[in-house]
Amino acid sequence: MKRALLTVLATLAAGAAWIAWLNLRGEGRIDDAPPPAPTAQSVARGAYLARAGNCMACHTERGGPLYAGGRGLETPFGTVYAGNLTPDARTGIGSWSADHFWRALHHGRSKDGRLLYPVFPYPNYTQVTRADSDALFDYLRSLAPVERANREHQLRWPYSTQAALGVWRALYFKPGVHEHEAGKSADWNRGAYLVRGLGHCSACHTARNALGANSDTMDLSGGLIPMQNWYAPSLASPSEAGVASWETAHIAQLLRTGVAPGGAVLGPMAEVVLNSTQHMSASDLTAMAVFLKALPQTPAPPPQATPAVAPVLAQRGARLYGEHCAQCHGEQGQGVAHAYPPLAGNRAVTMDSTANLVQVLLAGGFAPATEGNPRPFGMPPYATVLSDAEVAAVLTHIRSAWGNRAAPVSEFDVTQQRGSIRP
Ligand code: HEC
Ligand code: HEC
Ligand code: HEC
Repeated sequence: MKRALLTVLATLAAGAAWIAWLNLRGEGRIDDAPPPAPTAQSVARGAYLARAGNCMACHTERGGPLYAGGRGLETPFGTVYAGNLTPDARTGIGSWSADHFWRALHHGRSKDGRLLYPVFPYPNYTQVTRADSDALFDYLRSLAPVERANREHQLRWPYSTQAALGVWRALYFKPGVHEHEAGKSADWNRGAYLVRGLGHCSACHTARNALGANSDTMDLSGGLIPMQNWYAPSLASPSEAGVASWETAHIAQLLRTGVAPGGAVLGPMAEVVLNSTQHMSASDLTAMAVFLKALPQTPAPPPQATPAVAPVLAQRGARLYGEHCAQCHGEQGQGVAHAYPPLAGNRAVTMDSTANLVQVLLAGGFAPATEGNPRPFGMPPYATVLSDAEVAAVLTHIRSAWGNRAAPVSEFDVTQQRGSIRP
């Protein structure tokens, strides 16, 4: 009896030590000497990298001081608040050394030793080089310090504990470096570094498991963004957001301006373009485009016999379309060049997931205003105009008219998704 108990305790202790080891692996000795004053060149480089990593978006509360933290990121486990990254000595990173900053970015551990939640996309940022990490740190140190205490996370037990986070990290996180692939071009390698690392595209474009992990930053096969009910389509599928058949220049154009022949960005992707990719250099955008274009594509599923739509429903959908949508998107769903996207032959319309369609229809939307597309046309919101049954009917119509062949949308789908949309 006693022996069995001892065995259990020994096993538990060994397990805990193993998890602790996994959480601390690869960390060198921390030099906490105050860093030398940054050079102007390093600050400028860091400012650019901060755009590429979109650090400001999460680390700024709406209407609050830039980079001073306080924005809550909702997860299925509760809310995690992004911290103050300004160089205030007490509440920001003013007392950090470059090693502390590197440890946060590369190992996901704070200056005080606390394990960080992966809402902070360090599973991607771990691939950022030490030189880029130092430049980011130099840039952040050049900002005006803002005294603003970090907010405490509001997570449910046991997710609120460091022990649970430690186990999570042992299962899903491994510090890593970007591996240069010798057989690939310089552009491809630069693109891979940006997409997998700073760009953290997989933070949205990969499905998460029940524990919120998208452990594979190489995987871009699409996923529903938790809590937001937007679907980030697969970048590896020609029927979703794969761009293998696009011209490289058009892919770069989409990331720079938000619109390109074949697509326009919406919702969370519009924010990515607005805050991040539109500010990137032409050569970096081309590199990302080269990488995205070369992603191995999963073959499109064989066309399925779509269930026939009841004639009453079909008529209702067509009538609503004529009344509310045709003036912009055209009688035949052909759209208007440089203004209204076509709906005929548009994969955003025929994709399996209907989450984004319901979002766009209920809440409306704008492509981001960018230098390349300064006055985007808007799509009005229909949340207060159309009932759930009407939204379902008009969506079913655009998914089955003009040669589109996608499954109908039910009133139930719309009702379910309406709950999570805040126009
Ligand atoms: C998707 C949102 C998001 C993005 C993008 C993001 N962060 Fe964060 N970051 C967070 C959250 C949330 C935390 C808090 C994690 C925690 O406390 O466990 C955090 C924490 C940190 C910390 C640790 C702060 C501390 O007090 O321990 C650092 C440093 C940091 N982020 C730097 C960056 C940098 C640099 C970038 C851009 C390259 C960036 N973050 C981009 C959400 C984000
Ligand atoms: C915050 C979540 C998020 C991040 C981060 C993100 N995306 Fe997206 N992305 C989306 C969503 C949602 C959509 C679907 C809406 C749309 O079509 O714009 C999308 C759509 C796209 C599309 C298809 C656009 C079209 O019109 O066909 C491309 C290409 C794309 N993303 C590339 C990227 C790349 C490259 C990155 C990294 C630099 C990235 N995304 C990062 C959420 C995200
Ligand atoms: C006033 C003009 C206007 C009207 C009316 C309008 N739309 Fe739109 N619609 C737009 C614009 C502009 C966009 C692009 C928005 C963006 O890029 O964020 C858009 C985008 C869309 C998209 C997303 C397409 C894509 O490629 O991602 C769908 C689906 C859509 N509209 C359907 C409809 C339906 C259905 C109706 C009628 C109920 C409708 N629209 C009415 C202007 C309009």
